[in-house]
Amino acid sequence: MTVKRQYMPRYVLRNKTVLITGAAGGIGAASARALHARGANTVLVGRNADSVATLAREIGGERVLHMSVDVTDREALDDAVARTVERFGALDIVFANAGIAPDRVATIATIDPEVFERIVEVDLLGVWRTVRAALPQIIAARGHVLVTSSTYAFINGVVNAPYAASKAAVEQFARALRVELRLHDATAGVLYPGWVDTKMICSAFGGDDIVTRMREVAFPTPLAGAIPAHAVARRVVTGIERRSARITVPRRWQPISALRGIINPLTDARLRRDRLFLALLRECENTATRNSAPRGVCDSRSRPHRDGQVGPS
Ligand SMILES: NC(=O)c1ccc[n+]([C@@H]2O[C@H](COP(=O)([O-])OP(=O)(O)OC[C@H]3O[C@@H](n4cnc5c(N)ncnc54)[C@H](OP(=O)(O)O)[C@@H]3O)[C@@H](O)[C@H]2O)c1
Repeated sequence: MTVKRQYMPRYVLRNKTVLITGAAGGIGAASARALHARGANTVLVGRNADSVATLAREIGGERVLHMSVDVTDREALDDAVARTVERFGALDIVFANAGIAPDRVATIATIDPEVFERIVEVDLLGVWRTVRAALPQIIAARGHVLVTSSTYAFINGVVNAPYAASKAAVEQFARALRVELRLHDATAGVLYPGWVDTKMICSAFGGDDIVTRMREVAFPTPLAGAIPAHAVARRVVTGIERRSARITVPRRWQPISALRGIINPLTDARLRRDRLFLALLRECENTATRNSAPRGVCDSRSRPHRDGQVGPS
């Protein structure tokens, strides 16, 4: 049996309804503003009720709904979808974006098991539970699912293993979903941000001296800098309008993703050989074992680089 090639006209956002988790965070809030500006009804879902309420007030108008939901709570997500449909009549797009990273990175040998499992619970199972709740509506609307993975889906997740493992799993989840949704003329895509200037990257950008050094040693300068969240939001909008399978932002990560089968073994071997990196890794592990105070101070006001990137002050 042959299946006709899927024709993909631009997916018009005006009057579509999009539900965003992690809506009050850096990438979520920037995307919510951009999608709303494109004419979409915007459902802001966040853990902290005050944060989503503040964002809803800032965006303003009739086309915004906000609610406090923990993405690990299946029933609360079902309820969020039901309230969305009650208010706007449909749910066309779900952006499963909520995520956490450890406050203090640690090796697999030293990480607190509860921290490891909580990260997987939010970053992987939270995505699954969000998409599961939304899927009947997305299928009915022939809509789109976007999940936030990370370049950690394909780079080495050293001292960040539960995060990297979850993001790689999220990528696999959405790839499978994209093919399965072909049966329903709906689509799914993966967002792969590199470093983005939000509170999540605090420890790697000055909040923790050792982790900051590890990032600088492990990544060449063009990849080691962070971009502002509104740059991600712009690509989220065009990615949804094109029903893109992949949104990699900044684009300089695209060749690394495409050539991962060649690059990954080389970088893994380099990290195992690099004496400075190994010394930092040992210090990181020793500190995690001692569970001592933070090794630096986070400065969220990162200095802009010439090309609009931001980096450590
Ligand atoms: N920043 C980066 O460099 C980067 C790079 C690649 C991928 N990402 C991914 O991008 C997504 C957004 O991150 P961000 O950079 O915008 O970080 P952020 O500013 O920390 O935003 C994360 C959001 O997720 C929400 N959240 C966390 N746990 C939740 C839960 N259990 N239920 C509901 N909401 C929850 C947070 O809400 P509260 O504030 O209420 O806790 C916060 O609003 C995440 O999936 C992250 O892994 C970020």
